[in-house]
Amino acid sequence: MQEKKLAGEEAVQYIKEGMILGLGSGSTVYFTLQKLGELIKNGLLIKGVSTSNSTTAICQELGIPLIPINEVERIDLTIDGVDEVDNQFNGIKGGGGALLFEKVVASISEKVIWIADSSKLSQNLGNFPLPVEIIPFGYTHVLKKLESQHLNPKLRMKQNEVYKTDSGNYIVDLHLNAIENVNQLSSFLKNITGVVEHGLFINVVDTLIVADQEHVKTTNVK
Ligand code: A5P
Repeated sequence: MQEKKLAGEEAVQYIKEGMILGLGSGSTVYFTLQKLGELIKNGLLIKGVSTSNSTTAICQELGIPLIPINEVERIDLTIDGVDEVDNQFNGIKGGGGALLFEKVVASISEKVIWIADSSKLSQNLGNFPLPVEIIPFGYTHVLKKLESQHLNPKLRMKQNEVYKTDSGNYIVDLHLNAIENVNQLSSFLKNITGVVEHGLFINVVDTLIVADQEHVKTTNVK
């Protein structure tokens, strides 16, 4: 918890007056939003583009003004969490189910900052199950295709029901342990009809902020 708070709050210093901000989702971004809410109460003017219903709800509670994504030309800065990040600075996201909106928001952002606690770092991606968002229609066939490639898919459930994303889609988590070639896997998944998006974020992050106990390390990747 302390590491998430440290990393989440560290990112706030990159926020400048007048920015359009991409606001990620999850328990680390929660701390960024808390701090941002305080700054806004003290007069900071920004507009946020939310990546999930849960982030929207937090922003409404904290008085963070939001703007619909279709009304912005671009996003100046996005701050988001990550589930696993490797030493090439590629990541897995979507543990909280928001990967699709997070990827759209990242794709129109000038700069992307990821905030993470030290448990998120790994040599190679794959320790964290890779989320894949699929449409409900024909999902059993997508599962079979993933099974046939030995990708170990598990349909995500929540309280005995199939988990649904903010877009009403399903998520399949691939239990891979190790991903040998992220680009190859990305293309393979994107080519399956019925797959909307996957949680591999390749060459996306510009700045990585990691908290390790009481130390915060910032790496400028690009
Ligand atoms: C949401 O779907 C995810 O991509 C989150 O950004 C990611 O899971 C990080 O979440 P935590 O900050 O809660 O670990």
